[in-house]
This record gives sequence, C-alpha cells and structure tokens, in this order.
Amino acid sequence: MCGIVGYIGKKNATRTVLEGLKRLEYRGYDSAGIAAINASGDIFLKKAVGKIVSLEKKLNPIPSSTLAIAHTRWATHGEPTVENAHPHTDCKNEIFVVHNGIIENHEKIRAALLREGHTFCSSTDTEVLAHLIERCIAFGASDLAEAVEQAVRHVQGTFGLAVIYSREPAVLVGVRRGSPLLIGLGKQEYMLASDASAIVGKTRRVIYLNDNEMAVLTPFSKKIFHLLRSGARRKKELKKPVSMIDWSIEDSQKGGFDYFMEKEIFEAPSVIENALRGRIIARKGEVKLGGLDAVRNRLRDSRRLIIVACGTSYFAGLIGKYLFETFAGLPTDIAYSSEFRYQPSVMDKNTTVLAISQSGETADTLGAIREAKKRRALTLGIVNVVGSSVTREVDAGIYNYAGPEIAVASTKAFISQLSVLVLAAIYLGRMRGFLSSEKSAPILQELLSLPGQAQKILERDVHKIKEVARVYKNHNNFLYIGRKYSWPVALEGALKLKEISYIHAEGYASGEMKHGPIALIDKHFPVLVVSPRDSVYTKTLSNIQELKARGAKIIALASEGDTEIGHHVDHVMTIPKVREELSPILSVIPLQLFAYHMAVLKDHDVDKPRNLAKSVTVE
Ligand code: F6R
Repeated sequence: MCGIVGYIGKKNATRTVLEGLKRLEYRGYDSAGIAAINASGDIFLKKAVGKIVSLEKKLNPIPSSTLAIAHTRWATHGEPTVENAHPHTDCKNEIFVVHNGIIENHEKIRAALLREGHTFCSSTDTEVLAHLIERCIAFGASDLAEAVEQAVRHVQGTFGLAVIYSREPAVLVGVRRGSPLLIGLGKQEYMLASDASAIVGKTRRVIYLNDNEMAVLTPFSKKIFHLLRSGARRKKELKKPVSMIDWSIEDSQKGGFDYFMEKEIFEAPSVIENALRGRIIARKGEVKLGGLDAVRNRLRDSRRLIIVACGTSYFAGLIGKYLFETFAGLPTDIAYSSEFRYQPSVMDKNTTVLAISQSGETADTLGAIREAKKRRALTLGIVNVVGSSVTREVDAGIYNYAGPEIAVASTKAFISQLSVLVLAAIYLGRMRGFLSSEKSAPILQELLSLPGQAQKILERDVHKIKEVARVYKNHNNFLYIGRKYSWPVALEGALKLKEISYIHAEGYASGEMKHGPIALIDKHFPVLVVSPRDSVYTKTLSNIQELKARGAKIIALASEGDTEIGHHVDHVMTIPKVREELSPILSVIPLQLFAYHMAVLKDHDVDKPRNLAKSVTVE
C-alpha cells in the first residue's frame, strides 16, 4: 500500500506521474516505480528501492509517453525490494498494475495461476492481479476494462488499482474497493490518484470514486461504472459530482519551516480558528454544527456513545469521552477501531458510534464503522480529509478544516480534533437539555480565546523547549504521566516522542504509577509530568514527590504563574491557564515541540519516520 498516481493525455505522462509521486512522498514509503507507454505501444518500466530520487536516477533522461502509472510502496506482503515494488506485470509484460490495499486470497489465486503455467517475479499479493487480468484477456474479455472487471471478481480484500495495457495505449483503468481513488479532470487529460495531493498542482477538479466503481479514461473521455456481478447486464454510465480541491500546492509545502511537522505545529492557532469558525454563537452559548442537523433527532435520543479511532485520533477520543460525559451527560465508551471490530459490544439504534480520523481512510476505523452500521447504530465522523472514505460511509459528521497534514506524525489534526470535540460535546449538551446556556457561554468564550493563547506558547516558549530537549536527547527511555484531562495528553506526548525520535516512551495515568511502572524509575529514567493547575493538581504534586524520592529527573508542564511546582522538578515548561476541559488543546503543543526538537537533534527524518505510513489503509 501507499500512493498511486496515473496520467493519460498530451503532456509527458512519465514526468507528470513522477511529479505526482514526489508530492505523495510525505505518506511514507520504502520503494517506488513507474510504467509508461507511448503512442506506439512501447513500454517502459522502472522501479527502485528507497527514495524517489533513486527512481529518478534510473529515469534519466525521462522517456516521453502519453500514458503512465506510478506507485510508492510501503511493504505489507514481501520485503521492500525492486521485485516487490509496483507496477507489477503479467507473463508477457503487457499489463501493468499499481495497487493499494490487500488481496486476502492471493495465495489461493497464485497457486491456481501457477498450475495454469503463469510465472511470478515477486512475493507480493498484487502480482496476482496482473496475471488474473492477463488470464481474462486470454479467455475472451473484449478489452482491458472488461478484463479488469472480471479479474476483480475473483479477489477478496481491498484495492485501489490503476491498470494499463500496451495493446490499448490510450486507456487508463482505475477501480476501487476499500482503498481510495480519485480522478483529476483536465483538458483532454485525466489523472488517477489515491490522494488529492498527487494531482493538486495539475488540476483542482476531481471526482471521488466509491467502492465497487471503475473508471475508464482516455484522453478524450471518462466513463465511470458500477462493477458488474458475473452475468449482470451493463447499466448506464454513472454521473458523479465534480468536487473542487480548495487547497493549493503551497498549502502542502513547508512555508519556510525546516519540516512539515514544525510548520504544522505552528499552524495551531489557525487550526483552532478554522475548527471554530462560524460554529459558535457565543452570547447565546450555542454551537451550530450543520453536518449533524440531519440526524439531530436520533442524536438527541441516543443513550450511549462509542468513540472509535486509532493512534493519535484515539487519544483525542479519550479526551472526547470526558467532554461528552461532562458537557452532555452522555455515557461514553471508547475503543481502538481495531478492537471494536471484534468486540461483542451491545449496540442498538439508540447507540451512536463516532469515528475520529484525520485521513478518513484508516482501514480499521472504516471496519469499525461498517460493524456499527451492521448493528444498527447511528454513525458519525470527525474527519479532516474532505471526501475521504469515512465521510462517505457515516450517517453524518463534522469536518476539522485543518488543511492537509503532511508530516507522518499527527500534530495539528489532534488540536483540531480536540477543538471539534469540545464543540460537539456542547452541541449535544445543549440539545439534550443537559447544559444550560449560562454554563456553555463562558466555555465557548474561553474556547474562542485559545488561538491567541496557542500563539503565545509558540512565540515565547520554543527556545526554552529546545534547551530542555538538548539536556535529554541522549536518554533511551521516558515516562509521560498525567491525570484526568492530562492523561491522554501524556499518552499523545509519549507517542510523538517514540514515533519520531525512536526513544522508548511510556504514557501512563499518574495514579497508576505506583501499581507497577514506578519500579523503572531511577536517575536515568526521566519523567515528563503534565501538571496544569486543575482539579487534580494536588494529587499530581504528590506523584511528583514520589518520583523525586526515587531520583527521577522531572520535567513539568505547568500553568503559567505556578510558582510552587518549580521547587520540586528539574525543568518547567508552561502553558497559559485555562479551564481543565480546554487545557489539552494547549498542553499538547509543548509536547509536540519537545518531541520535534529531540528528533531534529538526533538528526532524524522528522517528516518520514521509519516504518510508519501517513494513512494506514490495511488492517
Ligand atoms: C500518530 C499518527 C497515527 C494516526 C493513526 C490514525 O502521529 O499519525 O497514530 O493518528 O494512524 O490515523 P487517522 O486519524 O488518519 O485515522
């Protein structure tokens, strides 16, 4: 899995898809490849392990072509090698396939094709697709499109595919089931991509394919169909809406920062503003969330909320649980999407399942939504990427409007998820009559002040945080602790540190320390304590004493004006004082910056940490 880009038209297709691949680099990958065909049907195939520059070197000079597909691969089946890189081809080197997703029954298909005499060059699941298409052509499919349609009938699993065939040098076929694919519309040219970033410099007009849809593109025409079941008669072409991409290449470039991650952390003030814009009537204490209006009645009658998410989005969900219970009085559970799918959770039509996902493409979260639908729950999404799969599968939802998040480690998305969760909890609380406007109005007023408070942290504290990072950069272990609203912040801080600096970091609820982890503590095991002045502050101070007594080096993240905490710890980072329900939106910023500077000091590729991909579209 990772990134797909395809092009058909009058420009040099090889160059165009190569540029697209470069814009997909941020997703993380381990190898890349291109297949191109010129107007006479001559074929060109190149693949390389490592960065796209290695592939580019092999392309020198860039061959001209009118049709090309390309891929960045993040290994799931088979090592990251040239053989396993996409595109994959058939026995005759005529059909070329790039694929995101997983073909679950690939071993069975491969065995059958081997028996029929096909030969394989890779250990990937994808290669079976090229041979299946070859087989369908040999058995009488009238053209490439029909062969692709027949081939995917044999396949179980998920796919976003782009396919070309040297005998049809003016046709590009795309098909999706469970893995995103969109068409970019130009003048006498079309693109296919797994992600709008790949095409945003070329066109802003796109059509998103849904599951089980196939696009057949030529330089002069675009046809989209439902995939047919065997024996079914072809229905009419689908007329699908054209969407506009409303962000620019510049939006997804670094804007003067060294890394995307740094840029995205510094976007915190505008990210909070964008999440709140037009959604608050502060004087009335009301929240407007147009995306939820259609399901208002079902939401009002919900008796239980279950949040499903992965990674950073899951930690936002943990804070969401406290918010929904505090502001809306709604019993709320939270589950990792990957576990929820298999949990025997009791659900009915009075249960609401809320999926939180930056990308809107996380396979586990999509699986969780499908499971919730099967069990009749109302499904909602909090999603950043407009038009992504989650947004199309849930009953209703709220966008983050945080803009594209390019760095693999999520930062600004977390901040916008928390902002949206506060809004959603107040919206529900007001609608269900749990929260009075007297109570909600001051919370909303304070929420509106957060962009300014975040700006203060970013203008004032970066130097200090960098200095603290310098002191700790050679440590191999870290513990992050916090209580109540600060516990998920501690978990997220630890995740950021391990993701990009590769330092082992544990996040723990402060109160749990004495039940085990405190055994680890000595002077070599530093602890970062998220300790704003909140309702559990004195308890957190006791935890700090326990740690100090065991010789721990302690960094505290405290509220401005806290003159006491400095006496008990080695370093203090501060955030402006805000009510505890809102403090995670600010307290995560210094932790993101701390992890960022640790990774920079260790000379890591901050935006593309090893072994990680931006959106995890496999289970
Ligand atoms: C961490 C990170 C991941 C994602 C997780 C869910 O920095 O980026 O843990 O948060 O893979 O992704 P989404 O939110 O796209 O569903």
